[in-house]
Amino acid sequence: MYLRKLDYRKNKMESYKRLFENNRKWVEEKKREDKDYFTRLSEGQKPEFFLIGCSDSRVSPNIITGAGPGELFIHRNIANLAVHTDLNFLSALQYAVEVLRVKHIIVKGHYYCGGIRAAMSSEYYGLIDNWLMNIRDVMRLHEKELNSMQDNEQRFRRLVELNVIEQVNNVRGTSVIQKAMRNGSAPLIHGWVYDLHEGLLKDLKVEI
Ligand code: CO
Repeated sequence: MYLRKLDYRKNKMESYKRLFENNRKWVEEKKREDKDYFTRLSEGQKPEFFLIGCSDSRVSPNIITGAGPGELFIHRNIANLAVHTDLNFLSALQYAVEVLRVKHIIVKGHYYCGGIRAAMSSEYYGLIDNWLMNIRDVMRLHEKELNSMQDNEQRFRRLVELNVIEQVNNVRGTSVIQKAMRNGSAPLIHGWVYDLHEGLLKDLKVEI
């Protein structure tokens, strides 16, 4: 029993240490390509994109878009929600729009999203149910369309898309974007869905 516990801890630490090993390799590689790479990055950021994505470990925006450090300003939470009372989101949005002056804002959802799936079920999950209420609002708003679908998987996929569309609307409604629109300096707002199964991004073409 004790040995098994030690083994368990050893395994745990190995995957943990791997992160640092990978980091060192990455630094060496970057410096080999360009010796001033980190010096330049430390001078500041000027990203063109602000992305709101899901926390899901499989949908890392930088990896799937090939964007390097300095290219994407990112806010992530469960089910990529843009909630009007979320100070964390609003602060990131304001900084992106008013200080970084990003050209594009992207809400990026993904099929097979656990947050969306949980919102569709009637199970009790505890604290997170309050957060999922935002998705249940989207369901209520599109009740007719969703209820017309016989297939559960099809409904699941559609809700992922509808949630992105509603979050795009939410972003547009914020005081930050309203102010930028009045000044004629608002970024374009896009809605994307990432298909985990194919690895491909889909633009929902809901540009605002
Ligand atoms: Co998700």
